Amino acid sequence: PQRPVLPADIMAMKGGAPIVVLTAYTTPVARLVDPHCDIVLVGDSLGMVLHGLPSTLGVTMEMMILHGQAVMRGLHKAMPVIDMPFGSYEESPAQAFRNASRLIGETGIPAVKLEGGQHMAETIAFLTARGVPVMAHIGLTPQAVNTLGGYRVVGRDGEGQRLMDDARAVEQAGAFAVVVEKVPEGLAGRLTEALTIPTIGIGAGVRCDGQVLVVDDMLGLFTDFRPKFVKRYAELGQGASEAIASYAADVRARVFPGPEHAFPDSLTPKAK
Ligand code: KIV
Ligand code: NA
Repeated sequence: PQRPVLPADIMAMKGGAPIVVLTAYTTPVARLVDPHCDIVLVGDSLGMVLHGLPSTLGVTMEMMILHGQAVMRGLHKAMPVIDMPFGSYEESPAQAFRNASRLIGETGIPAVKLEGGQHMAETIAFLTARGVPVMAHIGLTPQAVNTLGGYRVVGRDGEGQRLMDDARAVEQAGAFAVVVEKVPEGLAGRLTEALTIPTIGIGAGVRCDGQVLVVDDMLGLFTDFRPKFVKRYAELGQGASEAIASYAADVRARVFPGPEHAFPDSLTPKAK
């Protein structure tokens, strides 16, 4: 039987074959992505793509736990990682540990992800010292949308050095990998070369050690907006819309259900 992927396996992939990461929030999608991914992320993006929230700020621990449990029922091979939602870890290392242990204990997911660079280093060190593997997340950190001033590229011009300091801080603190979001490709390449832990890029160019996308974005299921860094590998939303329109037309025309979908009154064949 296949051994599950562990943080040490991910770290060992640094500089080798690119690390493949997708999000999943449900059992059926977890089953679909599992054979193809090294890591499956239960991202707090679920607040926007599944629950219709305007940002990730309203996502709760309960939402993360419910979706984390669903994803775990569909995974056999890939390593699951779960996002810590806004408000569950920023206050103190102790608060972060309390909530990380709940996420891990109630879902069985072995590792957490949290947003922030230098200012979260102490928390990352606190968690890793106590048995919680942490994936860091720097660059555009969507939970900070209101202080960052929108979903903009982070790390251009004077911001480059700060981002390098953030990357070094989370590595030093013990993160086993770091998501680098919406960062200029040259800078993301330099970060990748400077670090000994893998960088997982999203909107950060091809030189990162791995790539992640929101599964609903790349399948064309979430279409409210389309960041430049999303490549649509399918248009499932459009396909679903056409299927639903066909169903509605069939019902209105009494074409569905057909005889093959209906139950006869009796199973005994009529005497001729
Ligand atoms: O919430 C999420 O899906 C994420 C990834 C896009 C990295 O944090
Ligand atoms: Na996230």
